[in-house]
Amino acid sequence: METQAGHVPVMLAEVLEHLKLRSGQTIVDGTAGGGGHAAEILNRIRPGGRLILLDRDRGACERLIARFGRVGDVRYFHANVADIDQVLAEAGLDRIDGALLDLGISSLQLADPQRGFSFERPGPLDMRFDRGEGPTAEEIVNRWSADRLASLFREYGDQPFSRRIARAIVEARRREPIRRTDELARIIAGAVPGPWRRTQRIHPATQAFMAIRIFINDELKSLDAFFDKIFRYLNPGGRVVVIAFHSGEDRIVKARLREAASSGWVRLPVAKPIAPTLEEVARNPRSRSARLRVAERLPTAG
Ligand SMILES: C[S@@+](CC[C@H](N)C(=O)[O-])C[C@H]1O[C@@H](n2cnc3c(N)ncnc32)[C@H](O)[C@@H]1O
Repeated sequence: METQAGHVPVMLAEVLEHLKLRSGQTIVDGTAGGGGHAAEILNRIRPGGRLILLDRDRGACERLIARFGRVGDVRYFHANVADIDQVLAEAGLDRIDGALLDLGISSLQLADPQRGFSFERPGPLDMRFDRGEGPTAEEIVNRWSADRLASLFREYGDQPFSRRIARAIVEARRREPIRRTDELARIIAGAVPGPWRRTQRIHPATQAFMAIRIFINDELKSLDAFFDKIFRYLNPGGRVVVIAFHSGEDRIVKARLREAASSGWVRLPVAKPIAPTLEEVARNPRSRSARLRVAERLPTAG
């Protein structure tokens, strides 16, 4: 489902409920993307609130500026949430009332063939959020050994048949380098057994593409770095809400929130991760794997 802004915010009602927004608050949206969550947050913290928007993708930041404008209560940062301390220092803030992370990729990024995120859209194998940084998917696919590729698919993608897929990639690139998303998707589809493939709801390349993307963007490390820093900036009662779409990400979120709870920084208002409603999944299938977790800073912490 696409809106005018091109990305339907996932679990919007749940995000708004669990951030416990009020006018006058200072809120960070660390993965602002198309600004769907941000727009509704802004409505609730005005008047008097401040919204700090971050995205690693320069194009996303430009679209956010076009959407919300150069207004006094919204600040934009082309930055990684791993660097939240630097962003807040630059914004002149040492306390905030809440932070949201809606991890992964937006429909806008997925829809742009030149970004190379989608196996359904022929394009170059790029997959970097920040095109000024790090290796591309093409470099990994054409340079890594079969062993290394297999463990990437297994560890970051929970990918069955990782070894077969890795071998098929190495075999194919002997003939000529793999340069495009659709070529890679075809190679992966050809490597998994047909009968298994027919039992799956998702394309066999889904998990392998996600594994490559998570690796090249160092997504798990960024998440860890965010959790190393965020709690000390929260005002008492301030909340962190995180939506993860990948089991490796959700494991980190769960572990880091539990650790913060057991060291007395936060309480966890909801014990179990919150999933989207069936109605939302029917309306927006992209929300299917979303899991939302919440932490609230204790008055006595720090
Ligand atoms: C799922 S989208 C967010 C969509 C947004 N909540 C909305 O309603 O439109 C995730 C966004 O986070 C960005 N992103 C991913 N990892 C990031 C990180 N470590 N730091 C900053 N931005 C990140 C991506 O570039 C993408 O635009």
